[in-house]
Amino acid sequence: MKVSTSILSSNDIGICISRLEKTKTDYIHLDIMDGKFVSNKTWHLDDLVSYLENIEKPLDVHLMVEDIINYVNEFSFLNPEYITFHLEATDDIDNIIRYIKSQGIKVGISIKPNTSVELVYPYLKDIDLVLVMSVEPGMGGQKFIPSSKDKIDKLKEYKINNGLDYVISVDGGINSETIKLVGNSDMVVSGNFITSGDMEKNIELLKDYSAE
Ligand code: DX5
Ligand code: ZN
Repeated sequence: MKVSTSILSSNDIGICISRLEKTKTDYIHLDIMDGKFVSNKTWHLDDLVSYLENIEKPLDVHLMVEDIINYVNEFSFLNPEYITFHLEATDDIDNIIRYIKSQGIKVGISIKPNTSVELVYPYLKDIDLVLVMSVEPGMGGQKFIPSSKDKIDKLKEYKINNGLDYVISVDGGINSETIKLVGNSDMVVSGNFITSGDMEKNIELLKDYSAE
């Protein structure tokens, strides 16, 4: 299992990022909120650049924003491996997929807990990652919504049946218990469970689970 660590709930992002650099996390997950698509607001690029400019871990950017293209233009500066946007945030999905790819960045689409998984099927052949939200986007530390399991299972089945190779990722409320429900995903995003405890140990717990 790949692990992407969300720094959203960390007290000091500078310290958190430099500690994560020494762990086995596969990615650092950046939650970007605009105060419109979700009510909270997170960092501007300027707040992050000094911490992220020279890191070795690849970045996994999760845009919870309405004005997707503006944020892509801003955050592509950090050269992330993935930029993921929300299906619910736009009617212009095909153009946004093309635009992110044209920047040389892999593209992901995320769906909220109340969005049916079938709505993302038409785009799966064109994208690199699908992010199933297992909590309402907007804040860390929430409880995993059990129906997310069904979406992940369907995405795995669809992937096999159609010979596709997108990464199935899941975000929200992931810990050493809930990971048992998401074995059909390829990657888990985890914030509080990792950053509020022994980071190295908790990352390994999540990574090892998949090996079983
Ligand atoms: C929620 C964010 C998540 C969140 C994960 O809107 O997208 O990435 O920070 O944090 P935990 O693991 O605490 O739910
Ligand atoms: Zn996220």
